Amino acid sequence: MKYQKSNFQGPAMKGDLLWLSSVLLLLHGASSCPEKCLCHKPTKSVDCSRQGLREIPLDLPPGTQILHLQHNQIRAVPTSAFIGTPLLRSLDLSNNALFTLAPGAFLGLAHLQVLNLTQNSLQSLENNVFQSLPQLQELDLSFNNIQELPSFKGETLNHLTWLAVQRNQLRHVHRAQLAALPSLRVLFFRDNLWKCNCHLLDLKLWLESFVYKGGITDGVICSAPDIWKGKDLLKIPYELYNACLPLLGNGGPVQTQFPDTAELDLPPSGRPQEQTDKSQSDCDLKAKTRPVSLRHALATVVITGVICGVVCLMMLVAAVYGCTYAAIMAKSHRQPLRHAMERRSLQEEKGPLAASLA
Ligand SMILES: *[C@@H]1O[C@H](CO)[C@@H](O)[C@H](O)[C@H]1NC(C)=O
Repeated sequence: MKYQKSNFQGPAMKGDLLWLSSVLLLLHGASSCPEKCLCHKPTKSVDCSRQGLREIPLDLPPGTQILHLQHNQIRAVPTSAFIGTPLLRSLDLSNNALFTLAPGAFLGLAHLQVLNLTQNSLQSLENNVFQSLPQLQELDLSFNNIQELPSFKGETLNHLTWLAVQRNQLRHVHRAQLAALPSLRVLFFRDNLWKCNCHLLDLKLWLESFVYKGGITDGVICSAPDIWKGKDLLKIPYELYNACLPLLGNGGPVQTQFPDTAELDLPPSGRPQEQTDKSQSDCDLKAKTRPVSLRHALATVVITGVICGVVCLMMLVAAVYGCTYAAIMAKSHRQPLRHAMERRSLQEEKGPLAASLA
């Protein structure tokens, strides 16, 4: 009975109610402005900045398109925090005390183009916290404590052209995360904790094609390992890719002449330091680089070794076989002789006994 009733009234009723409530909200909102905020009707902007606010004001005019909440003490953005202002185009939450963004924090902001979250204390971001922002063009996450970028994958950030994440605690970013932002043109990545190891080659490749296609970036400046500290990931030479292959171990002279990378800027002081660095984990870029000729020599040595090993093994097998065969033959020759001797000595022992019996 209950189900029937809700089925019957369901969608139509709900739609009507929504429409009615939004009309009421609009009528109501036209004349109201939250305490501590300045509402400018012609530009549909509301300025609540520098008011010591600890929470997002609840009674914002529903037609608001520009909302200034910067320089307050707002600590969190709860789920659906802006559901009452669905027409927002620009939201400035910079210089607050934001620690978390609840899942679905920006739900319903279908027209939001600029979201400013700079100068907060954000540490981690929900994977799909920006999912509900199909029109977002500029996202400022700089000056926070973010350790991982959310996976933008599957989100609808098709219009994002400008992304700032400088001054955070990023160590690595996966290529796939950025590949999910097809319109990206400007990217700020400086001043993070970039760990320039093999995991970051992915990002290097992506950045190279990004820059090649006209993208603008302020660079990825390594902060680890020590040998690459202060160096731009984009300028770490290509030959280091080889170091990420498990085949190549330690040792061998360091040479800088490598035709493929002649046009690349090698870090000026990089080489001498590199040799002292031996405490790197496996996936750190090996500072020692191998020129092609050396690698060929290595390969030759390995192949020769393998062939020699096989030949030696075959000789060993032949020798063992020969020895075993000889031993068996010798044994089978000696066998009848020993039997005969044993038989004779037995008869000799039996001799006196048989005599005493008889
Ligand atoms: C965000 O706000 C800061 C100042 O609070 C400003 O410098 C920056 O340009 C803003 N970012 C965007 C994308 O508007």
